[in-house]
Amino acid sequence: LHIVVLMGGWSGERPVSLQSGAGVADALESLGHRVTRIDMDRDVAARLAEAKPDLVFNALHGSPGEDGTVQGMMDLMGLRYTHSGLATSVIAVDKVLTKQTLVPNGIPMPGGRVVKSADLFEGDPLARPYVVKPVNEGSSLGVAIVTADGNYGMPIGRDVAGPWQEFDELLAEPYVRGRELTTAVLAGAEGPRAMGVTELRPKSGWYNFDAKYTDGMTEHVYPAAIPDEITDACNRLALEAHRLLGCKGCSRSDFRWDDERGVDGLFLLEVNTQPGMTPLSLVPEQARHNGMSYPALVQAIVDEALR
Ligand code: DAL
Ligand code: MG
Repeated sequence: LHIVVLMGGWSGERPVSLQSGAGVADALESLGHRVTRIDMDRDVAARLAEAKPDLVFNALHGSPGEDGTVQGMMDLMGLRYTHSGLATSVIAVDKVLTKQTLVPNGIPMPGGRVVKSADLFEGDPLARPYVVKPVNEGSSLGVAIVTADGNYGMPIGRDVAGPWQEFDELLAEPYVRGRELTTAVLAGAEGPRAMGVTELRPKSGWYNFDAKYTDGMTEHVYPAAIPDEITDACNRLALEAHRLLGCKGCSRSDFRWDDERGVDGLFLLEVNTQPGMTPLSLVPEQARHNGMSYPALVQAIVDEALR
């Protein structure tokens, strides 16, 4: 097949996407496909029209590659592409729309409210500890955890600059103490299946951008040393969320688990429709633990897009 790997772009996750795209493109070539690598710019439509691929592998993260915009463009152009379509992407990239979709369907997620970021300077929007995060960013960009005695990760204050100040609105959520868990869902001929649970144990602080992408900064424990009941719940909730949102190809659901509260302490934070494919990323790692090499995972995502 002739496959375009779409990567890069201009979101805050551009460096991550370049890594995902490089890994995917190398794997596709090793599988014998003809690959055209496109670092997305504003001429992307013209470049895709010229390339005339059989399939586009979407290795973009963040906007506009994960929020439905690029998906809608490819729909109009009649191009086939991997991962989720327009409507799913619009909802899943937005943490508020995701809650509005999943919570009424029985998926436990932290409560929360949208606040004007300027209002954060006037006082706490919620009882501490809480988390503030952009509504539609990835890789923990712009996230701050506000603890009782200050901030953990990023300063908040009238005179203090931080990436999160680029956002007019932020989502404030109660902080769920405890543990960081994640579950990938991979679609296949027999339907989507959940791939188990990885616990992320950052060596210090929390699982922020640096802890996600710096080798050695976070221990990945698979299978997570947690009760079967919690593993089963993660698998079930990730699969349900994947189905309820209409995800295609693969997704990754991120959880917090308050281990003092049993299964009632498990909360889905979000569903990633364009999960990372970098050397430290979790979907390829869970695939490997399930006996699937990186190239086999890439081929499975391709196969699903062509079904
Ligand atoms: N947003 C990053 C790429 C992830 O979910 O893996
Ligand atoms: Mg994310």
